[in-house]
Amino acid sequence: MGWNSWNSFANIVNSEIVQQQARALASNGMKEAGYEYVVIDEGWWLGERDAAGNIVVETKQWPAIKPGEKEGDMANIAAYIHSLGLKAGIYTDAGRDGCSMYPDSGPKYTNTGSEGHYEEDFLQFSKWGFDYVKVDWCGGAKEKRSGAVQYAQVVHAIQRAEKITGRKLFLSICEWGSQNPWFWAPGVGGVESTIWRTGGDIIPPLVESLHDPEHAKRVITAKNLLDSFEAGMHPEAQHTDYYNDLDMMVMGMRGMTDAMDRIHMGLWAISSAPLMVGSDLTRLSPATLLLLNNKEALAIHNDAYGLQPIKVAEPTRGVEIWAKPMAIPGRRAVVILNRTDTPTQASLDLDKLGLAGTPKSVRDVWNRRDLATANAAVSAPAHDLALLVVDAEDKKPAEYPANDSGIAGIEATRGPTFARLQYTNNSGQVAIVRVKSTSGLSTALALPPTAGSDTGAAGLILPHGTADLSFEAQQVVVRKLAVYAW
Ligand code: GLA
Repeated sequence: MGWNSWNSFANIVNSEIVQQQARALASNGMKEAGYEYVVIDEGWWLGERDAAGNIVVETKQWPAIKPGEKEGDMANIAAYIHSLGLKAGIYTDAGRDGCSMYPDSGPKYTNTGSEGHYEEDFLQFSKWGFDYVKVDWCGGAKEKRSGAVQYAQVVHAIQRAEKITGRKLFLSICEWGSQNPWFWAPGVGGVESTIWRTGGDIIPPLVESLHDPEHAKRVITAKNLLDSFEAGMHPEAQHTDYYNDLDMMVMGMRGMTDAMDRIHMGLWAISSAPLMVGSDLTRLSPATLLLLNNKEALAIHNDAYGLQPIKVAEPTRGVEIWAKPMAIPGRRAVVILNRTDTPTQASLDLDKLGLAGTPKSVRDVWNRRDLATANAAVSAPAHDLALLVVDAEDKKPAEYPANDSGIAGIEATRGPTFARLQYTNNSGQVAIVRVKSTSGLSTALALPPTAGSDTGAAGLILPHGTADLSFEAQQVVVRKLAVYAW
């Protein structure tokens, strides 16, 4: 969760802008709500290196901030961000050239990528004090590279940098879904936590101060948001610490209405997608801020299992019900997405939510009130979204004990299916568990190490079909898999 400079400032980003945005984040309630990263995207570096290969930046764009600092030193802005109790993020490309060779505005710059310099560059970012790095794919795509190979090398360089500086550098993979990263990004190169973009940009940047006629034409539509959401649904790949990234948020930007803000926040929250807000934080309306900081929506987003929702019903065309299993037994977050021109009333069918019994509670998140549980019917206005939390009981699961190398013949034949996995992993490293399904879908789960005899738990969504789960790492024991009839 945090802020990213691209959507609203594109390549005019500079120290002054980043300081202003960081101050806004620290003072408008977002920091307290959990937004912590301030990420500087493309445009901070124009591709220049000194004779030793070190990155050289514009001194005017990145001056000294405090007495005693050197101009042109990116450590200044990282320290400023840290001084507000926030974390700092930076950006590069996995290829030789970066996206600056296809500029959105202004001149083009080559060589803004890190290929050939992975070890030095990631170490440099870490030494400057950055905690997060977004690695884009313009150069990788141009050179027709394999994402799985390049990003594994990036992870290797990051791990080396982390060892040297002792500072965690979180990797954000930005390959736009072009090589199906949901199959290889979880655990790539041994990475313990990561996010990977699943599609292109919701919209190219909208920089008000540029007065560029191209930018002036750009208006966000609900379709832009819904397309990104749909392209990003790969629930089989996502679980705690590994997340499909639906793109930076455009809350409150040109074209966004309050209803679109609710659609955006509701879908990103129920998907546990990264919430990297790309708006100008100094200009957010109170209504937009209230939504971004909505504690109950953020609790859905931050659920320990971190799963994506499954579309469980479409009672009338254009009215979609999506449900996300949460770590608390019997709990589902539910979205009623009304894409039609008519207001709707949708009744909650517990069976469709994978639940049994009668609802214990139905919570309307936007209005912060409990709804009557008998015959719970929920209204969603036209082109709007209702967000709910429903508590009842999980149906009785089918339990699969594991043998030494996996579990065979897991039935998920009624559609994508929720399962809880209990495991121990004493290898000290992330362990990769492969899930292969007769539907042709296969994916990998990356299970973080557990300490001593502690049991780890992960929620997962099995692909449709009969699946086999196999684990390769020694010292990894899957104890049990509970599969819930949906
Ligand atoms: C790509 C990414 C965006 C942004 C721009 C910068 O388009 O998808 O998020 O980083 O590059 O040019």
